[in-house]
Amino acid sequence: MDTMQALGALLDPASRPDPYPLYARLRDAGPTWVESVSALVVARYADCDALLRDPRLSAERGRDQLKHMARVLPADAPSSVLQPWFLSLDPPDHTRLRRLVSKAFTARSVARMESSIAVLTDELLDAAADRTHMDVVADLAYPLPMTVICRLLGVPMADEPLFRDWSARLTRLIDGFDARMTSDDTMPDWLHASVEMHRYVSGLVDARRSDPGDDLISELLAIRHEGDTLTHDELISTVVLLLVAGHETTVNLIANSVLALLRCPDRLSALRDDPTTAPALVEETLRFDPPVQLTARVVSEDAEICGVPLSRGSFVYLMLAAAHRDPSQFDRPDVFDPDRTDLTHLAFGLGPHFCLGAPLARLEARIALTRFAQRVVDPAASQDPPPYREHLNLRGPRAVPLTHSGIR
Ligand code: HEM
Repeated sequence: MDTMQALGALLDPASRPDPYPLYARLRDAGPTWVESVSALVVARYADCDALLRDPRLSAERGRDQLKHMARVLPADAPSSVLQPWFLSLDPPDHTRLRRLVSKAFTARSVARMESSIAVLTDELLDAAADRTHMDVVADLAYPLPMTVICRLLGVPMADEPLFRDWSARLTRLIDGFDARMTSDDTMPDWLHASVEMHRYVSGLVDARRSDPGDDLISELLAIRHEGDTLTHDELISTVVLLLVAGHETTVNLIANSVLALLRCPDRLSALRDDPTTAPALVEETLRFDPPVQLTARVVSEDAEICGVPLSRGSFVYLMLAAAHRDPSQFDRPDVFDPDRTDLTHLAFGLGPHFCLGAPLARLEARIALTRFAQRVVDPAASQDPPPYREHLNLRGPRAVPLTHSGIR
C-alpha cells in the first residue's frame, strides 16, 4: 500500500477504531508529495517536531478557501464568517489576537476553576448513579468540557443542542484531505453550519454589549472599547473558535483516557488509590490516542521541505498521530505505558500556535479521570472497540458504553 492508498483508507470511517497501521505506512514511506491531495504528507516524529517550528511554513491555510467562500456565501451572511480564526493566522494578527484572550487561559486562571470543575464532575456522575450502565461520552466526557467553556464565555447551556450540531458539522472543515474547498459554486454543509453559528454568536455578543456579565465575551467587548484593537468580526470569530476548540477536543481526551483505563484495570485501581498517577495517564493518552490527529501548514516561499522542493502555497500535512507511534522516537510505541521515560508528544502542537487551552484540557481530563476511578465501581466496557464518530482529524468515540456495580 503506498501513501496515496493509505490516505484513501484513512478517509474510510471503517478505519476509525484503529488507524495506526495506516499511519505506519505513511511513516515508512517517509515524507511524500501526494498529487491527488496536492500536499506533502509528513508522518515521522522528528519531521513533524521540526516543521511545527519552521518559519518557512505559514498557518494561513485558508486563503484559497476564503476566496471561494466569498463567492458562494449568501449576501446576508455575517461578514465574520470570512474572518479567519487566529489559529489560521500568522503574526502580527495572530500575536495580537492570541494575546487578547490568553489571559483567560494561563495556568493561574485555569487553576482557579479546579473546584468548580470537580463539583461539576461529581454532579454528572451523580446523575448517572441510579443506573447500572453509563455512556462515558454522553454522561461525562461531552457535558463536562461543554459546560466549562459555556460558563467561561457566558453562553447559555440551554442553547447547547444548537451549537453541538453546528460544531460537529463545522469541524468537518478541518477534517483532512477531502474537506478542502472544491471549485464548484455550491455551499458545503460545514459553511452552512458556520453561517448559523456566526449568526448565533453575533446575537450573543449584541446581548452582552447592552448587558455585560462576568464572562469572557463581556471582557473581550471591554477590551475592544478600550483599545479598539479587536474588530467586531475578530471578536465573533474568536468566540466561535473558543467554543469549538474548547470542547470538540477535550471530549475525545476524556473518552480516550477512560477507554485506556477500561483496557488496563491495574492502572484504574492504581489511580483510585493514588490520584497523583492521573497526569501521566492523561499525557500518555495524548500521545497514544491524540484528540487532534493532524494539522496543516502552507509553504510561504519556494523551499525544500524534508528534502522535497515545494513551491509557495503548497500544503504540508503533519500527521501528529502517526508521529506519536514512531519507533525512532518511542520504545514500544504501540503500548499504552504511562510510566514510559520517553513520554513526550505533539498533541497540543508546538511553537507560536501551541494550544492555548492545554492547561484547561489537562485539568478537566485529570479531574474527570480521577473522579471516575474513585467513584465508578467495577466498570467494564460493554463494547470494545466502541463506535467512533466519522471525524478523521478530531477522532474519538461516539459513545463508550459500560456497565458498573454502582457509583459511590
Ligand atoms: C491550538 C489541540 C483543547 C483552544 C491547538 C493546536 C492543537 C490543539 C494541536 C495547534 C494546531 C496547529 O498548530 O495547527 C488541542 C487538544 C485539546 C485542546 C488535543 C484537548 C485535549 C483546547 C481547549 C481550548 C483550545 C480546551 C480552549 C478553551 C485552542 C486555541 C488554539 C489551539 C485557541 C489556537 C492557538 C493559536 O493559534 O495560537 N489546540 N486543543 N484547545 N487550541 Fe487546542
